[in-house]
Amino acid sequence: MLDAPPAASASAEGTAWTRKDLLDTDTLTRAEIDLILETARAMREVRSRPVSKVSTLRGTTVATLFYEQSTRTRASFEVAAKALGADVVNLTASGSSVEKGETLIDTVRTLEAIGTDVIVMRHHRSGAPHLAARHTSAAIINGGDGTHAHPTQALLDLFTMTGRLGSLEGRKVIIVGDILHSRVARSNAWTLLKYGADVTFCGPATLLPRHFVPAVDGRRCAVTTDLDAAIEDADVVMALRMQKERQQRGLIPSLREYIARYQVNAARLRKAKPGALLMHPGPMNEGIELSPEVAHGAQSLIEEQVANGVAVRMALLYLIAARSRT
Ligand code: CP
Repeated sequence: MLDAPPAASASAEGTAWTRKDLLDTDTLTRAEIDLILETARAMREVRSRPVSKVSTLRGTTVATLFYEQSTRTRASFEVAAKALGADVVNLTASGSSVEKGETLIDTVRTLEAIGTDVIVMRHHRSGAPHLAARHTSAAIINGGDGTHAHPTQALLDLFTMTGRLGSLEGRKVIIVGDILHSRVARSNAWTLLKYGADVTFCGPATLLPRHFVPAVDGRRCAVTTDLDAAIEDADVVMALRMQKERQQRGLIPSLREYIARYQVNAARLRKAKPGALLMHPGPMNEGIELSPEVAHGAQSLIEEQVANGVAVRMALLYLIAARSRT
């Protein structure tokens, strides 16, 4: 294991990381996001070394605390923490004292008492990480809360887009699917607007936001039900998972109808800019929101998003843990 810290310092153009927690992207400044991306680029370099580990976080304990299922977020945080030399404790609600009725507050205080410095948590209730953050001195990183926010997904999506396109100023990004219930769409909207992208939310009227649409500096996400029109000349098309329970709840007439109007397939993707980026946060329902040929086609960045997730999460752990040690 190498002892050298990553190349990026905890400052980009003089910005230092000062936050205890990462709860969403809405309050992050452009300079803070720049710092995360710059640090993630250094972490990607670490990951490309023959020995892809450093000992920067030796002596730091990171806990993953997941009350909801996850593959990508949980696994990549564990890989990221270990790549930085941290000790990792993995907890899920099932099999822990949560099943005996222990509260969230008692659980995070217990983790703090055993020496945990950073808690990465996912919870089915919106706002749960905010509650936890108020009751522990351990840093809280939100790995997804209810329908509210998924900041690390948005940051890895931004890292992937800027890595491919450079500046996002004036770039047309379409996010299609169940926007109403999507924490990914919401957290992405904040970062993309801050980077100057034109963001359009697209989906059936029943799955579009009714009251609140993110806006930055007076620039607001557009909202439409017409994917065939919205996708014209798009630079990035991001499809979201369609949960089958939406049909059971009467929010879409049928999956067949949804596929006919909102599936991103080869014919629709041809309407976007040549070489437009196709993204999906995963897990995907192949054959529903994406046709198999585009899901695995040349324009698909789905696996690149997952790989970038490790570098971005290393960057966040590095910045947040370094701050908590000072
Ligand atoms: N994108 C995402 O959050 O995936 P997981 O649910 O597998 O973590």
